[in-house]
Amino acid sequence: MITELPIIKPEPIAVEKPLAFFNSHVDVNQTIEALEAGKSILINGMYSNGLLLLKALKAHLRRKLPNKSFQEQRAFRAEYRKLSNLVLIEIVNHKLAVKKAPLIGWLEKLYPETPDFLLTFPQVQGLNSAWQWYENGISIPVLRNKLHPFYGTYFPTRFEHLDLFDNWLKRYVGPKKTAIDVGIGSGVLAFQLVKYGFQKVFGTDTNPNVIVGLTEFMGDTKLSRKIELDFGHLFGKFEKQTELIVFNPPWLPASHNPGMIDEAIYYNESLFPEFFAAAKQRLLPEGKLLLIFSNLAQITQLIKEHPIEKELTEGGRFQLEKRFTKKVKAASDKTERDQHWRAEEEVELWVLGNK
Ligand SMILES: C[S@@+](CC[C@H](N)C(=O)[O-])C[C@H]1O[C@@H](n2cnc3c(N)ncnc32)[C@H](O)[C@@H]1O
Repeated sequence: MITELPIIKPEPIAVEKPLAFFNSHVDVNQTIEALEAGKSILINGMYSNGLLLLKALKAHLRRKLPNKSFQEQRAFRAEYRKLSNLVLIEIVNHKLAVKKAPLIGWLEKLYPETPDFLLTFPQVQGLNSAWQWYENGISIPVLRNKLHPFYGTYFPTRFEHLDLFDNWLKRYVGPKKTAIDVGIGSGVLAFQLVKYGFQKVFGTDTNPNVIVGLTEFMGDTKLSRKIELDFGHLFGKFEKQTELIVFNPPWLPASHNPGMIDEAIYYNESLFPEFFAAAKQRLLPEGKLLLIFSNLAQITQLIKEHPIEKELTEGGRFQLEKRFTKKVKAASDKTERDQHWRAEEEVELWVLGNK
């Protein structure tokens, strides 16, 4: 049943009229003007022509728009997203129809029935880097085996929160029969739970790619008998009470209706109240509820109220047992944007018990 889930992937683009194209012989400023007028442009010749055009577009927007505060950066990225998605590239026989293009296995794996179509250049860039992550795998300090994240799924790129969770698990002496990992993503927290001897972990996610990807990744290995998956909201079909619930939720409030992939990053107003109400029913009397969070939304002034603090003061369901924090290493691309707020960023591990 799981393999029948509809995978989220970029929609092939249907084109009616012939497109203007861009290559190294075409004037880049005129091409940017065409994009600003809402016209689509097809890349031809070398793959690098697409990179060249997007680089020029970014430089153009950087001259045109302010790009300092967190909010300005968001607006800048939205404009860049809009225009860069008018840059198209052709796929023929599951391969990019330009010279010196990367080989992207997703073009065959995700579109078995569609050999020829168009995608936007940023979509192809996304597919390309996702393929590299998937093929090469990602080493995670707290795990022995690499992760191989499926297309369109969230995976960790910084590890401080995983260290916090690992240190907590190392010292945990309670029962280890079952645990629930809400929003399992790449599976990293569930794998940590198995590493520390949990016999059964139930994992849910609202992103079908997560479920399809993890099902494929685990195959019929021992892991697949320890981790049971369900495609669903919050706890999905898992009703039974458990000794441990972990949730690494999205860390930022949504400014719009979140799409599927954004649901890894942005939460809507009802997510936390619904989560805590459902968690209350599923946590054994002596069980622990663990939440991983970050102060990112607070230090960037996106929220005044911390959703976990709000639950603790108003919910009447849980009490705080311990809260661990760890400073996040500054991002390496400091030159890219003004990220002074990054210096204050901390990840949090909240350990709650029943009231
Ligand atoms: C920040 S990621 C964490 C993934 C993984 N647990 C980790 O720690 O790396 C949040 C995950 O929760 C999933 N998610 C978001 N809202 C959800 C909901 N209402 N129910 C279940 N999963 C949800 C997202 O699709 C995403 O995979």
